[in-house]
Amino acid sequence: MDTKAFPQPARMALEKFPHVFNDQTLYAGPLGAAWAPGRINIIGEHTDYNDGFVLPAAVDRVAAFAGRMRHDQTIRLWSHHFEAYAQFSLEGLPETFAAQRTDLPGWARYILGVISELRRDGIELHGFDAVVGGDVPLGSGMSSSASLEVSTAEACSFFSNGKFTIGIEGATLTPMQVAAVCQRAEHAASGLRSGILDQAASCIGRPGKAALLDCRSYEYRYIPFDTPGISIMVIDTNVRRELASSAYNERRQQCEEATLLLRDLIAPHDPESAQQITALRDISPAQFTQYKEYLPEILRKRAGYVIAEDERVFQVVAALEQGDIEAVGPILWRGHEGLRDEYQVSCMELDTLVDIAHSVNGVLGARMLGGGFGGCTINLVHNEAIEALSQAVEKYYPERTGRQATIDICRAAGGPGQSVA
Ligand code: GLA
Repeated sequence: MDTKAFPQPARMALEKFPHVFNDQTLYAGPLGAAWAPGRINIIGEHTDYNDGFVLPAAVDRVAAFAGRMRHDQTIRLWSHHFEAYAQFSLEGLPETFAAQRTDLPGWARYILGVISELRRDGIELHGFDAVVGGDVPLGSGMSSSASLEVSTAEACSFFSNGKFTIGIEGATLTPMQVAAVCQRAEHAASGLRSGILDQAASCIGRPGKAALLDCRSYEYRYIPFDTPGISIMVIDTNVRRELASSAYNERRQQCEEATLLLRDLIAPHDPESAQQITALRDISPAQFTQYKEYLPEILRKRAGYVIAEDERVFQVVAALEQGDIEAVGPILWRGHEGLRDEYQVSCMELDTLVDIAHSVNGVLGARMLGGGFGGCTINLVHNEAIEALSQAVEKYYPERTGRQATIDICRAAGGPGQSVA
């Protein structure tokens, strides 16, 4: 078996498969693997569920399945990470919701969630046995759950022997349709009312590119993000907060409330434009300035952050299109300030990492990444400054927080893949 072309976690899962599942008579298809990446987000945080804009890139870290299609409707999984089995049947799906299957471990509920949602869309699936692995750090803000969801869809496609295809033209589902299926699965499995950012980023990744995505129309275009002299350092606080999902859902609700209030404020003066307002995306910075004083303070902060963040996305896109990566740095610092002070989804450990990055020469910019309340920061760093930032983090982060950080360097990489071994 020549597995050189596979990402490392897929190789590892392929090697493991025959040791975990070894009854050859069960199988109706060849051994193969499917995978999908995690993501970073350069800018555009908490804008996705406000119908706004995001600028993510898929990274060279993936979740991967290796396995074989079965003759029957059974799905058996072995998680390399958790060293645990899970099993369910395709029969009765999608009626058995992922969230109700409390007998299954958490990781398997994401997989069941995707499979249920594919079935809900009328997609015919086969049973399979697979080893599941990956190297996206779990719960870090690099979208380990989205990578698991999207790789599940990719695996289902592989185990369908070509009956269920994913692609731009003539395929059963487009990449953005897969993203939408996986987003529904995330809602069912975790209760997080997340936007489309993570799943979309995983589905549409391209090497050396970021994707500017309109989270309302689902249109996207690629922006050059191949920066030889600059590295993307992702630094994990190693803080995980259980309550993060309720705070996330609360932010989302506050944005919905702010939208309704702003619409009602604008309506008497400009009924036509008010009619078009269904999300914060529809409020211009000028309108916000005009009416913000009538909003309760919390909603003013939340809406102010989101409206400014959408603007920052276009500022970063303009800078990248001009090849001016230096100009991106200050926009990232400002984004972090907004997340910390107005949107209030940062935490002491994230702020500490951003402060440390600020004090190191050669760091262009840094900010918290993803939903917040823990997880990691993204840092754009001149290659020559990698060492200095690593040393500063290793020295000051434990001193100030009592914790160790984990430092990783990643690249903008391609989307999902599948192949026979
Ligand atoms: C999480 C969610 C995304 C997005 C980000 C914040 O990663 O899953 O949909 O809202 O937070 O930008």
